[in-house]
Amino acid sequence: MRPVLKAGMVGMGMIFDETYRPFFEAVAARGLYDRRFGDLDVQLTAVASKTGQRAEKYQTQSAGRIPSFRSYAGDEAVALMLREQPTFACVATPDNRHFEASKAILEAGVHLLIEKPSVLSLKEVDELIAIAQKNGVLARVVYHKLLDPDHKKLRTLVADQVLQHVNNGYCSLLEPRQISGSQFSEWITGRNPGTYVAVHYIKLIDFTFGGRLKTVMCTGQRGLVGPKDGGTWDSCQLRLIYDYADGREAAFDIHTSWVTPDNFPGYVEQEVQFRFDNGIWNGHSRKRGVELTVENLTPLKMKNTINNHYNGSFLEPWGERSQRGYGIEVIDRFAREVAFVEYGGSAADRTARLHEIRALGYADLSADRQVVAAVEAMERILEAQAAGQPDRVARFNGDVVELF
Ligand SMILES: NC(=O)c1ccc[n+]([C@@H]2O[C@H](COP(=O)([O-])OP(=O)(O)OC[C@H]3O[C@@H](n4cnc5c(N)ncnc54)[C@H](O)[C@@H]3O)[C@@H](O)[C@H]2O)c1
Repeated sequence: MRPVLKAGMVGMGMIFDETYRPFFEAVAARGLYDRRFGDLDVQLTAVASKTGQRAEKYQTQSAGRIPSFRSYAGDEAVALMLREQPTFACVATPDNRHFEASKAILEAGVHLLIEKPSVLSLKEVDELIAIAQKNGVLARVVYHKLLDPDHKKLRTLVADQVLQHVNNGYCSLLEPRQISGSQFSEWITGRNPGTYVAVHYIKLIDFTFGGRLKTVMCTGQRGLVGPKDGGTWDSCQLRLIYDYADGREAAFDIHTSWVTPDNFPGYVEQEVQFRFDNGIWNGHSRKRGVELTVENLTPLKMKNTINNHYNGSFLEPWGERSQRGYGIEVIDRFAREVAFVEYGGSAADRTARLHEIRALGYADLSADRQVVAAVEAMERILEAQAAGQPDRVARFNGDVVELF
């Protein structure tokens, strides 16, 4: 009998369908193997969601591809899911509902993977880190853009000193109106696109360039998704200022929106530019070379500049149908990290293995504090603006965020 990593899942929405579902289906077919931990099964065992509707639909659709799983809905769903004793559980609920589920998972002594943004305040992230430490489990967060080959190359050039000292840069990520108008209509009230997507770039900047986050500024526009003076935001502009050990600084602007017209070319527009002492990096995640037009399909039903690196469905040269990309690879990687902790050697060495994985800061919650600080600052600045106090500035001293 092969050992089984039992998986729990909280939230069965868009991101479950795009990345977790293909991971669970692929691993059910092929298993998980590495010389360090051997040949394992990974099985989606139990799921928790608000209504259970999408879970039940998926249960039917996935018959024959993955074993059946338990589905729980409503207020007790997470507790019931945890009674199935998963080895790890993933949280993919709306951004402001990550904390409670994550806390329950860690308290049950279960390894945790949270969708970005991990949580919305330093107090919450510190509490989760402490529970994970106490209970000897992993607490990790998904930032799939760190696995994008272009971003890996950027980081490699920085690490190898080919690109020297970043001075400033900008990132933009624009989502179509349908995201705010229909996809997220249940939870969008009081939310903003900055926390939802700027956080990808906050992490990219924080992880790639290091340094100390010291100042956060932010503003935004309203009037399309909600009232012009309410707490629901159409678009946000965020500025982060970092300083570095050599006494120099860098500033980064991140612009986000979820009200871009639905028929704009690529569905999600992602652009970055970073300027260094000796170079410049220009990246466009959508325009990687393919432009496709199909009558009656593009650009609404099918994207015409398709990102085949994040998550694509393919007919492989050997005839197999597959769905793969870095959005799925990041979940596969987490399952391997859990497998390594649990099955990568003797029980006596489990703590050493746990520390080895925790030290991989790309995903560990303990290395996410500056990102959470930026998110908390953005949330609080926008909240103040909605309450009639615009143009506040946040400063982070490594411990707490203060607004001025
Ligand atoms: N990695 C990425 O690029 C990426 C992309 C999209 C979304 N996300 C993140 O994934 C998370 C979910 O986003 P989505 O697009 O799948 O949202 P969604 O609205 O499509 O789905 C949310 C799911 O959470 C469930 N849910 C809501 N409240 C719950 C609760 N209290 N307890 C249990 N389940 C609950 C809903 O039933 C639904 O199944 C968000 O944090 C988002 O930022 C990440």
